[in-house]
Amino acid sequence: MKTAVYPGSFDPITKGHLNIIERAARLFDHVTVCVMVNSDKSPMFTLQERKDLLRKSTAHLPNVSVDAFGGLLANYARDHECCTIIKGLRAGSDFEKEFQMAMINRKLNPNLESLFLTAEHQYMYLSSSAVKEMSYYGADVSDFLPEEIIEDFIKRMNQIANNKEANP
Ligand code: PNS
Repeated sequence: MKTAVYPGSFDPITKGHLNIIERAARLFDHVTVCVMVNSDKSPMFTLQERKDLLRKSTAHLPNVSVDAFGGLLANYARDHECCTIIKGLRAGSDFEKEFQMAMINRKLNPNLESLFLTAEHQYMYLSSSAVKEMSYYGADVSDFLPEEIIEDFIKRMNQIANNKEANP
């Protein structure tokens, strides 16, 4: 059985992520989307919440499951006997960071291959951070997020805005 792991922060999942998941699910027998910790980021949703949002967004994909892990990706892959990591590549700016991560993961776990799927043109500029920023300043982000999570996203964004108002 050909399996792959698609790791990321997914804070929250965007339509760009979903497009990569759908395409990976056509290439592999099973794909695990794994919510992981990026130590450079302060997430808006907890690991469990991000998992729940991913589950809602991928419910239509029978060969996709969702997991979360707080350690090294190389160890997660080893423990789950998986040797392919899927990553989405947007603009050239993603390349350097992803190349470095692929090298490090390979060093930590020599059985690992990183497979890069290029983003569809309509998602080339899309990121969870950009969606959060747009929404914080009141823009409609419904074009960028899976329909199933928009309500949860707006609810959390309103909580954040209300907290900021109460504690400027
Ligand atoms: O969506 P992101 O934030 O670009 O995803 C990055 C992520 C979470 C995949 C990366 O930070 C990661 O793999 N974190 C787990 C720890 C790890 O294995 N880091 C790579 C070796 S330093």
